[in-house]
Amino acid sequence: MSGWLKKKTASVRAWIMYRVGVIGCGYVSRTWHLPVYRQLKDVEVVAACDIDRTTVETFAKNFGIGKAFTDYKKLLEEELEVVDVCLPPHLHAPIAKEVAERKLNVIVEKPLALSSNQAEEIIQTCNKNNVKLCAIEDFVFFPMVQKLKSLVEDGYLGSIISVNTVIRRGPLESGWRQDPTLSGGPLLEDGIHQMMLHVLFLKKIQAIYATVHDRLSVDRSIHYQVTLRARDAIGTMEACWGPGVPEIYLALFGSKYSARIDVYRNLLFTNDGSNFLWLDAKNLLKRLGYALKYIFNTRIRKNKLLPILGHYYQLKDFFESMKSNSEPALSGNLVKKGIMLIESAQKSIATGQEVKIMNE
Ligand SMILES: NC(=O)c1ccc[n+]([C@@H]2O[C@H](COP(=O)([O-])OP(=O)(O)OC[C@H]3O[C@@H](n4cnc5c(N)ncnc54)[C@H](O)[C@@H]3O)[C@@H](O)[C@H]2O)c1
Repeated sequence: MSGWLKKKTASVRAWIMYRVGVIGCGYVSRTWHLPVYRQLKDVEVVAACDIDRTTVETFAKNFGIGKAFTDYKKLLEEELEVVDVCLPPHLHAPIAKEVAERKLNVIVEKPLALSSNQAEEIIQTCNKNNVKLCAIEDFVFFPMVQKLKSLVEDGYLGSIISVNTVIRRGPLESGWRQDPTLSGGPLLEDGIHQMMLHVLFLKKIQAIYATVHDRLSVDRSIHYQVTLRARDAIGTMEACWGPGVPEIYLALFGSKYSARIDVYRNLLFTNDGSNFLWLDAKNLLKRLGYALKYIFNTRIRKNKLLPILGHYYQLKDFFESMKSNSEPALSGNLVKKGIMLIESAQKSIATGQEVKIMNE
């Protein structure tokens, strides 16, 4: 290809493609982000970085990525529009801010930061440099969570009286996850998913009370119970890391009807007080509609995207917001609120007292 044509092709590609650099080539980027990027037609991952040479080289080879670095500062010198930070949580704030200072849009895996102050610094740095922030919180983007949100907004359930979430994970993995100075502890590192569901459905939270039942030395399990007192409703959050099958549930009780979601299976059940068969028949067409949409959406089905649908819809939304120069559906400020509520739960555990929430 002649130099002129090469240059022309490159500039056309730059016009239609967002060039992404990924920092951190571990579990989440390998099994979640890269499979999603393969589905987004306007996105090309052109550079990757991991502190571990073998990891980044294997990653680059497996995903056909042209450039591989072991120093993220080298990656930041590449021609990119977006940098995706898939690192352990203690590195999110310093590296996300550095990315934004270079006028690059930034995607940050959850938890956005180790504290609400750090989250605020990231948001401010992005605003100052006029770049967009995608604070990953994939649970919010699961289609059934979005469906439930629209049912609530339409008043189908009546006013919300209680919000209950349950998360059960396997035992805490070794490495950085076991060190709270690197991960923020399980309640932040993983419980943030759950807390964001409370942020979504519970309005005007006034106080939090939390307890922990630490059995790590007994059977490697740890259990948290968090009660969120809102002006007109109560939220309860049960989080457990230990042996057993992973489960994530969200249940809403409304003044008219109630609803439950099995988040992992992307299933939504509504209970409008009628008998079960009639309820099914009533919702059959709607459910058939969802099922057909899923069956015929070959992009999703063929690539086994069901467990990572949340990432798929959030990243899709983010790149669409870049294209239309609008705000992403989930703001950094809402995610910062989730982190602040986790901090309050941690404070409650430390003091044994209910913690009041200001400015809600
Ligand atoms: N949204 C979700 O459901 C979900 C699921 C899993 C993980 N995560 C989040 O993703 C992030 C990463 O988790 P993971 O499971 O992929 O961890 P991981 O340990 O598998 O991967 C992290 C990678 O970062 C690399 N790394 C560490 N320091 C580095 C540095 N200074 N420069 C370059 N590379 C460096 C490591 O070598 C490793 O390969 C965490 O914040 C985690 O909470 C989110």
